[in-house]
Amino acid sequence: MMRFSQRVQSLPPYLFAEIERKVAGRRAAGVDIISLGIGDPDTPTPAHVVDAMLAATQDPATHQYPTNRGTPAFRQAVADFYRRRFAVTLDPETEIVPLLGAKEGIAHICVAMLDQFDVCLAADPGYPVYTTGPMLADGHAVHLPLLPDLGFQPDLEAIEPAVLAKAKMIFVGYPNNPTGAVVEDDFFARLVAFAQEHDILVVHDNAYADITFDGYVAPSFLETPGAKDVGVELFSLSKSYNMTGWRAGAIVGNREVVDAFWRLKTNVDSGMFVAVQRASAAALSGPQESVKQLCRLYQSRRDLLVAALRGIGLDARPPKGSIYLWVPVPDGHTSASFAELVLEQADVIVSPGAAYGPSGEGYVRFSLTVPDARLEEAVLRIRERVKL
Ligand SMILES: Cc1ncc(COP(=O)(O)O)c(C=O)c1O
Repeated sequence: MMRFSQRVQSLPPYLFAEIERKVAGRRAAGVDIISLGIGDPDTPTPAHVVDAMLAATQDPATHQYPTNRGTPAFRQAVADFYRRRFAVTLDPETEIVPLLGAKEGIAHICVAMLDQFDVCLAADPGYPVYTTGPMLADGHAVHLPLLPDLGFQPDLEAIEPAVLAKAKMIFVGYPNNPTGAVVEDDFFARLVAFAQEHDILVVHDNAYADITFDGYVAPSFLETPGAKDVGVELFSLSKSYNMTGWRAGAIVGNREVVDAFWRLKTNVDSGMFVAVQRASAAALSGPQESVKQLCRLYQSRRDLLVAALRGIGLDARPPKGSIYLWVPVPDGHTSASFAELVLEQADVIVSPGAAYGPSGEGYVRFSLTVPDARLEEAVLRIRERVKL
């Protein structure tokens, strides 16, 4: 009998297990399932990035162990990008370390920063690793509800003093997954003041920085005065450059935290494949037209899906960023019962909101990562087959 760690035993059951089981069964029976469940871009990585990767893999200098610090060229490319894109100055020597995707950063920053029973405030609904990451570090995630009336921002004033006393870190991210919200008013400035007052590290998850619509341009948290004193940002190439499979990102910001993260990482992995670093630098430094094109593509899918869902009586609203629609379920349904109904009757997968935390109850998430024809087909099936 294997004796697993409490840590792993405490992980919640994989919430999509039941859905995956049903999907596998129906697909095996030849049923055509449309998945709007996961947020994995369906269009390819830009050609110039693939070309840079091809050339890099042909250079034997890329074949050896990388370092956890990252190559000077990669760090410089991130610094140049942050200056150009956000007017944020980063020291490539001390304020940037590569990540094997933002997800890796979320999990490992918990190990670098949390001790047993330390509290990590986690946006709810939120990316699931905001709560499982603290668990794996023996810490304790406390949900921070994102309130629709506050534009899906948390009410920092409402956090209980007993929780604040134990809180060491907070996970938030805008443009937001799953709600599609973008940062409003002076939230980042208030977050910096909050972090200073309570001595809490802000971890801003910037995975959707450049996936925005209607001319909206998302800021970096690090643009906020004082942010670098209290926070780091997890930057990802996954969504802007269709590079989810490449595992490429960076942790940037507070140098002490970046250094602690690096020290941890020297004991975990040996860094990012140098060829991926070169390709990532090519993505960040090269033409950005593909990013604009991608935003246009998602924006037109967004508009198509919002109109179609409103046409069948669902209260879908167009987000200014991310690749998701966050839609309230019809009366009488929970997020799980509606997702199940749509799967069983229309062969369409949507994500139940409760999978992203208790405050996700009452919503489902539709991903925009399938072509127009499939989105239209999905809505047609829901209209024709699902009794709302
Ligand atoms: C909010 C959020 N953070 C992080 C990630 C993971 O990104 P990466 O591919 O860089 O690990 C995702 C992926 O969907 C995400 O939605």
